[in-house]
Order: sequence, then structure tokens, then C-alpha cells
Amino acid sequence: MPKIISGFSKLTKQEKIDWLSKNYFSSQPEIINTIQQYWNADEKLQQLHDDFIENTISNFYLPYGIAPNFIINGKDYVIPMVVEESSVVAAASLVAKFWSKRGGFKSEVISTTKIGQVHFMYQGDRSELTNYFNLQKENLYKATASITKNMEKRGGGILDIELVDKTGRLDNYYQLHVTFETKDSMGANFINSCLEAIAKAFRKDDIEIVMSILSNYVPQCVVRSEVSCKIEDLGGKNPQKFAEKFQQAVQIAEIEPYRAVTHNKGIMNGIDAVVLATGNDFRAIEAGAHAYAIKNGSYSSLTHCEIKNGVFRFWIEIPLALGTVGGLTALHPMAKLSLDMLQKPSASELMQIIATAGLAQNFAALRALTTSGIQEGHMKMHLMNILNQLNATNEEKEQMVAYFKDKTVSHSAVVDKFNELRK
Ligand code: MEV
Repeated sequence: MPKIISGFSKLTKQEKIDWLSKNYFSSQPEIINTIQQYWNADEKLQQLHDDFIENTISNFYLPYGIAPNFIINGKDYVIPMVVEESSVVAAASLVAKFWSKRGGFKSEVISTTKIGQVHFMYQGDRSELTNYFNLQKENLYKATASITKNMEKRGGGILDIELVDKTGRLDNYYQLHVTFETKDSMGANFINSCLEAIAKAFRKDDIEIVMSILSNYVPQCVVRSEVSCKIEDLGGKNPQKFAEKFQQAVQIAEIEPYRAVTHNKGIMNGIDAVVLATGNDFRAIEAGAHAYAIKNGSYSSLTHCEIKNGVFRFWIEIPLALGTVGGLTALHPMAKLSLDMLQKPSASELMQIIATAGLAQNFAALRALTTSGIQEGHMKMHLMNILNQLNATNEEKEQMVAYFKDKTVSHSAVVDKFNELRK
């Protein structure tokens, strides 16, 4: 019999846990203990987290790390990162230091507008619809006046409302395509409220509204970060060869989707970590970034590289719809701490910081991939995870780390050495 329950959300937290453990776990005390282990002792703080979502029974920790030494547009930053993958923060820190000695990162916001759409069906005459839209347009702005008032004071609001005929793709399908500026807020609630007010004002007997929703595709909310230096300043034994191989790796990701997806995944390792740390919506960022990566019809790299007149240049161009006010940014104490650590950036500044974190991550991955390979550094960082799985003591960990300092880490090599040590 399926275990279907009604009114679950109305149960207390304890009742929810009891129901869960009775129905889905064999060892109840153990599971209850694990769940409770992650409760915060500060009840007020726990309540805050409980209230973020429905049916909260515990918290799920992810490490919160910091990557120092980032110089962006001449300003120094320590970048907070929330991520479980062992090598990400180490890679960001290494690359930040590397480029801090070569002029740092340069970053500029190219555009900041966002899109929302009212999708509707209309079977009547097209020119009548156009006339109706032109007549109504002023009213559509007026219908949102109470919502846009505060945003306008901050320099944002609705920039444009267009009627778009999509009947060539789907019978009777039209849109109101609305362009927004939301300044320092990500603006999801603002945009959706405006769209619903617009849809209500636009609706009439022969117009059937299907839905009103923002778009997470934001090709007009784009930032570009870059690094550059003379090839000889790249260091190493053969900087020219390094630069060429590096560029080839980028070119491969530009034309080969199988590689591009992994290449961009590495970029998102850096981006998502800062997006999470600052309380932003990483699903929106992911969706928008990957859509942008295929904007020319074939999935491609979000970073690019050029070698010209003896200068190596490496850059990223990525859409990032971010907020530094509203949402979780002030509510989650750690998100607030992250923004304070970044010296209370505007949304535009945060776009620059986060794009830079993505670029740095990609630089680290490509540098490793085109030289020593990725596993050397990756497995060194993973060593601690393996040791934790083996329940190693602190003393054993120290001995194992010292042993593997100049050796290749593999799961079996670690287990063998560990067993030898314990004998
Ligand atoms: C692993 O999380 C990310 C990489 O695979 C990225 C890349 O291949 O460029 C190392």
C-alpha cells in the first residue's frame, strides 16, 4: 500500500519526523538522532530556517569557505564560497593569487535588463489586437503603478512593453514581452507581480491569458570579466606552449558540445558557490547561463581566449540575474555575512565578482587539464574525504597527508596505506 498522508504540513516537526522514521526507516533512534544532530541550538535561528520552506525537519550543512587574494578592477576581495566539491575553493584561491601578481581581473557589466512575459491566446483579427494593445499600453503601465513606485525611486521599473506575434510557431499564441530594470534586487517577485497586474488589465473576452511569469533567460543582463598578461609573464618552463595549449582547450570547448558542457560545469563550480553564499537563486543562474551558452544555435563555451601580439587574454561573458537586497540576502545571516565580506556590493558589482569567480575556476581547471591533468590536485583534495570515510583519527590523517605529499592519491592506494598504518 502506498504511504499517502493528508494534512502532513499541519503536523508538528516532531510528528513529521516520527511519521517519516516509522514509515521509511528501519532503525528509528539512529535516524532521529541524525536529524536532530543538525538542529541549531539557537531556537530563534532554527525557527528562521524552518520558515524558509515547508516541512523542514533539519538543516543540511555545506562547507562555507573563503577564497582570498581576488583583485577585481583594482579592489581586493575575499570571496565566500559554499560548495561540497573539495578542489573548488583551493583552485579559486590559487588562481586569485596568480592573477593578483599580473594586474588582477578586469570586469564590466554590459547590460542589466530582465524580461517577463504574459503569454496569451487570441483568435481574432491581428490588426484589431494591435490597435487594442496600443490603446491599452498606457493603462498597462498605470495598472502597475503601486508596484513600481518604490522601484522607480531606486531608478528601476518597467522599461518597455511590446506585443509579440508568435502565431507562426503556435496557433493563436501572442505575448506581452516586458523589459524590466530591477537595480539591486533580483526582482523575481517584482517582475511577477507587475506581469500579473498587466495581464489583469489587458484581459478581455477574446484574450485568454495562459500565464504570466518572468524569464530566467537574461541575455540582456550580462557581465564580462577578463585577465590578460604578456605570454612570458605566465611563468612556467614554456609559457608560449602553455598559452597555446590553453587556447586550444578553450577552442575545443567552443566547438564541441560534449566538452563545452563539462567546461561550463567547471565555470559553474565557481559561480554557484558564490551565488549560494550570497543567498541568490542558483537554479535561475544555471538555467540562464546554459541557455546563453547555446544562444548561437550550438552549445558552446562561456569563456574565450585570445593570443595576440604576445599577449594572452582570457575572458568570460555570462548573464547573471542577481540581487544584493531582498530575498534571502538580508534574511539568511550567512548570506548577509557574505555580502558584508564583499563590502556590500551593488547587484552590478556582485555580477562582476561572481563572473570573476567563474573565470578563475575555469582558468584553474584548464591549467590543470592541459598540464598535469585534473586528478593530481583533485585526488589530493579528496584524500581527506577518503580518510573521513575510513574514520581516521587526526593523528592518522596527519601521517597519511604527509605520506601522500609526493605520491599519487587513489582510493585503493589510500585504503592500502591506511590498513598498513593501522596494523
Ligand atoms: C569538475 O567539477 C570540473 C571540471 O571537470 C571542469 C573541466 O573539465 O573544465 C574539472
